[in-house]
Amino acid sequence: MKVEKVLRMATGDGGNSYAANSRLPEKALIKTRPMLEKAIQDLYTSTLTPQGQGIMVVADLGCSTGPNALLVVSEVMSTLRECLRREEMDDDDRRHGGMAAVQFFLNDLPGNDFNLVFRSLENLQNLASETEADDPELPCYVAGLPGSFYTRLFPSNSVHLFHSSYSLMWQSKVPEDLTNGSHLNEENIYIGKTTSPTVVTLFQEQFRKDFKLFLALRYKELVLGGRMVLTFLGRKSGEMLMHGEVGTMWELLAKSLQSLVQKGRVKKEKLSSFNLPYYAPSVNDVKALVKEDNLFNVDHIDLFESNWDPLDDSDSDVVPDCESSGENVANKSIRAVMEPLIVEHFGDAILDELFVVFASMVSKHLEITKAKYPVIVVSLNKAGHPLN
Ligand SMILES: C[S@@+](CC[C@H](N)C(=O)[O-])C[C@H]1O[C@@H](n2cnc3c(N)ncnc32)[C@H](O)[C@@H]1O
Repeated sequence: MKVEKVLRMATGDGGNSYAANSRLPEKALIKTRPMLEKAIQDLYTSTLTPQGQGIMVVADLGCSTGPNALLVVSEVMSTLRECLRREEMDDDDRRHGGMAAVQFFLNDLPGNDFNLVFRSLENLQNLASETEADDPELPCYVAGLPGSFYTRLFPSNSVHLFHSSYSLMWQSKVPEDLTNGSHLNEENIYIGKTTSPTVVTLFQEQFRKDFKLFLALRYKELVLGGRMVLTFLGRKSGEMLMHGEVGTMWELLAKSLQSLVQKGRVKKEKLSSFNLPYYAPSVNDVKALVKEDNLFNVDHIDLFESNWDPLDDSDSDVVPDCESSGENVANKSIRAVMEPLIVEHFGDAILDELFVVFASMVSKHLEITKAKYPVIVVSLNKAGHPLN
């Protein structure tokens, strides 16, 4: 499986699309807004000096499609306009008058539904025209940028801010020793309770390589003092086999596929050759990897939890209606993420059946515990020394 060719969220804006089912990442965008605002404010005062180039370059990596892509653009723009407004009030002689415009890049893999994003940009312009009449003028030019964030995307020293949400847990590939059959993960699709320690190490190593590569590439592309705000699914426990959380959700999907194997709807070999290009790190994993190459200072790192059910916003530990929550997890969240990968590997004939079984398994799990995803958010700034 070539990840950059097959990984995409469900396209369009129909009932099963990602655009219609991206409430979970939307909640993360809202939750991490203060950290993004802080990074922009710091960037504004420290990097955009009076002799600044006038253009601030911002990129959202793994923007996907639907309302969240636009939400990021409008959040960044409203924070920058607020910075300009404050400066106008504080200081007649605008120190940062050099900032004339924002160039915004929306990045994702080539299979992403960029057409939907481009069509919806009109809504963003409508939003912009609804801003206060006395808002400082700050034009924003938005462009799509197809390509993997595990490759170079920008010229050296050209980007001020990278943002990425709910994307970095996707790896550049499934570990090669699983793809080529040197090792088997049997009926698991990610790290499950029966995954062997060797296979756990393969997933860990893939993450280590990919995350370090990501940091090194972005280091080259950022201006000195440039910022990155990255949000991705993680895990609470440092102990790999007590993975729980997001690992449990993938185990339930694996069990749903196993039940289709038992019914003769899916071939056993098909399941054993299906693994996710995925890894959920702990906060300590992330801190250690950032420290290893010393390219970035960690301004802030935090972990928060988000209910599995995208429509459940409560803080309580009770799931009021397990059946409807199971349905929401399956069909209003995970299906939009997994549909293209499942279709690519197993064909589309099993889709509806698979997600009926999965919804019921999730409901049963929620009867035992209110499951939550740990989400890591980290804010980094480019340290003032060159790459080794
Ligand atoms: C769950 S979506 C999150 C989208 C959006 N940021 C949001 O908050 O709703 C993850 C996105 O990351 C993209 N992605 C995964 N790996 C990528 C890579 N190597 N390069 C660029 N985009 C990638 C996927 O195609 C997908 O659109």
